[in-house]
Amino acid sequence: MSHLAGQSLWARAKSTIPGGNMLLSKRAEMFLPEQWPTYFTRAKGCRVWDLDGHELIDMSIMGVGTNLLGYGHPEVDAAVAATVSAGNMSTLNCPEEVWLAERLVSLHPWAEMVRFARSGGEANAIAIRIARAATGRDTVAICGYHGWHDWYLATNLQNDSGLEEHLLPGLEPNGVPRALAGTVQPFSFNRLDQLQSIAESNDLAAVKMEVQRSTPPDPGFLEGVRELCSRQGIVLIFDECTSGFRETFGGLHLKYGVEPDMAMFGKALGNGYAITSTIGRRAVMEAAQNSFISSTFWTERIGPTAALKTLEVMERERSWEQVTATGLELRRSWQELADRHGLSLRHNGLPALTGFSIQSPRALAYKTLITQEMLKRGFLAGICCYICLAHIPEVIAPYLEALDQVFSLIAECEDGRSVEELLEGPVCHGGFKRLN
Ligand SMILES: Cc1ncc(COP(=O)(O)O)c(C=O)c1O
Repeated sequence: MSHLAGQSLWARAKSTIPGGNMLLSKRAEMFLPEQWPTYFTRAKGCRVWDLDGHELIDMSIMGVGTNLLGYGHPEVDAAVAATVSAGNMSTLNCPEEVWLAERLVSLHPWAEMVRFARSGGEANAIAIRIARAATGRDTVAICGYHGWHDWYLATNLQNDSGLEEHLLPGLEPNGVPRALAGTVQPFSFNRLDQLQSIAESNDLAAVKMEVQRSTPPDPGFLEGVRELCSRQGIVLIFDECTSGFRETFGGLHLKYGVEPDMAMFGKALGNGYAITSTIGRRAVMEAAQNSFISSTFWTERIGPTAALKTLEVMERERSWEQVTATGLELRRSWQELADRHGLSLRHNGLPALTGFSIQSPRALAYKTLITQEMLKRGFLAGICCYICLAHIPEVIAPYLEALDQVFSLIAECEDGRSVEELLEGPVCHGGFKRLN
């Protein structure tokens, strides 16, 4: 199966688009350098068609977590098509944004107000601006990935490994004003002691964190963060851009019963259409009025239309239960295969964003081999799978049969066969690297 059309367009892209595209996670080198199909012409359910005309089953990151209902969901697309024919933009506002704000508040009774944006990074920047405006303080403590903006990358001005465990090693904050050094203090997940000492030596405006990424919160951790923030008048912000709607009908924090002061949703909210939100308590959110947070395309109509329909379908299908059950089943199947082949796996992520790593010094080469061999068998696949409703047993069974063969190859490599000889191109990138 050749992917010449995709590869040659990717080579062209790098001469006109710095980095080749707009999102690190979709660069070909992150998957399979020199072999990845890279571009699509059509997507439906969990199937993607590439430029060379191959039909591929997406068992990887499903549009980087955007399409929990599957690509091209008929009901969401029909709602969007109706909006397109009725008019997406006008001088007047779209009513859907009010309905969506009310819907999000009803799902999160602690929140009273909402602002919308079109990317997760924007929703995060909005939250930080509002929290700083509300408290009159500058410094924020963070734990997790929160986008590309100056406020966040400033973490690495003080210490260039500040974002190592939150995002990627080797990120240079070039272009971020040096004057921001010290305004962001990172802490490790499940290390309340670290956050406590940051809060002792800084007048914190906000604590911003993901509720869970790789591992679940230890008992008492989220409660401890909540208690500290309440005691010191710090705005607690949960970044639910990725975790939202995967395990509950709303934020993952609903599962843990710990209420923040603000939360952001993105990714799954519009099932592939751009819509993100920042929700919060009235006392905090009102501070948006004493700052300037405003953008033309935050008012377009497709985003809120798609989100309203997505929420309706999610509620009817109880999608968060389905994707969680499928993810747990997939994790069990991975483990079974690994046991059969004598491989040691470590599992990570929420069930609906489930991933594994092979415990070996050659882990990155094995990841590349999995992607290469699975692609030959018609799958976009690596070492994690963002589950969608289209990942039904009829899709997963042939995927597991194919993976069985690849795990068998890896087992041979663990016994001495050269993985490099099996690879038909370079090993994939493990972190941020300049591509041109
Ligand atoms: C937790 C979290 N916050 C923020 C973002 C940034 O969102 P976007 O890429 O839409 O700007 C992401 C994206 O991966 C994320 O996972």
